[in-house]
Amino acid sequence: MSEGHSTYTPKTGIGRWFDARMPLPRLVYDSFVAYPVPRNLNYMWTFGGILSIMLASQILTGIVLAMHYTSDTTLAFDSVEKIMRDVNSGWLLRYLHSNGASFFFVAVYIHIFRGLFYGSYKAPRELLWILGCIIYLLMMATGFMGYVLPWGQMSFWGATVITGFFSAIPLVGNWIQELLLGGFAVDNPTLNRFFALHYLLPFMIAGVVVLHIWALHVVGQSNPTGIEVKSKTDTVAFTPYATIKDAFGMIVFLFFFAYFVFYLPNYLGTRTTTRLPTR
Ligand code: HEM
Repeated sequence: MSEGHSTYTPKTGIGRWFDARMPLPRLVYDSFVAYPVPRNLNYMWTFGGILSIMLASQILTGIVLAMHYTSDTTLAFDSVEKIMRDVNSGWLLRYLHSNGASFFFVAVYIHIFRGLFYGSYKAPRELLWILGCIIYLLMMATGFMGYVLPWGQMSFWGATVITGFFSAIPLVGNWIQELLLGGFAVDNPTLNRFFALHYLLPFMIAGVVVLHIWALHVVGQSNPTGIEVKSKTDTVAFTPYATIKDAFGMIVFLFFFAYFVFYLPNYLGTRTTTRLPTR
């Protein structure tokens, strides 16, 4: 739905100067203000926005956690304990990040279910769907490697079992497993490469999300009826209509998220608390 001409008109001198050189404000205006969305979208269409803020939250909390984490098998568990006990608001950062990962998956499953239920994967949105599948694979890899970082019992055995799956691939399976582990068993090289990749992959996810939204903006949103919008009167401007609806959806979602972070932080069981014996 981006075939329409840009209606952005910079109002200030500096705005016109910028627009003639790098029309970034025009891009933002055309994509998130004037961009037309079907007028009958329901709350299932707010999960893309919810996923975007969850990704931002995971990256921000993750960067600060990484400032206090040590990816060495003798120190990893203790560095996480230090985050929980000594680092200012470290417990909050960790609970936001670990529960944030769980809620990120809750949101993505609703987002995928919406796509399956309303047929969002069908033409002309196939590429959008394929990019989504790539995002989901990257999310699983990132989540798995994050789970290993605290280096508790569950981390170790999780890494052993999941990398073991790859060994079932004919001919190249054992080679892939050794490459993932950095050796013949889960050890220090495994932890180090998992940390490096756990830091890298979310930025790759962010990159694929940009492509995902680009592909979306070329074809436009579908809508609950499954009939494509026919004219301008079938749509409303993204801002304020979709912006306010997305914001409301995000606030409700963040209430559920906050309830778990503050009242049931270990309920989803993703925190490993048993130390792994060190040699
Ligand atoms: C980090 C993860 C993701 C982010 C940030 C994201 C973001 C978005 C956003 C902002 C939209 C537009 C608003 C909406 O329809 O909710 C959207 C639409 C869409 N997404 Fe995603 N997405 C993610 C993952 C996925 C995955 C895993 C899939 C499928 C495998 C997927 C498939 C789609 C489809 C098909 C649409 C178009 C829906 C329609 O208009 O009917 N997305 N996404």
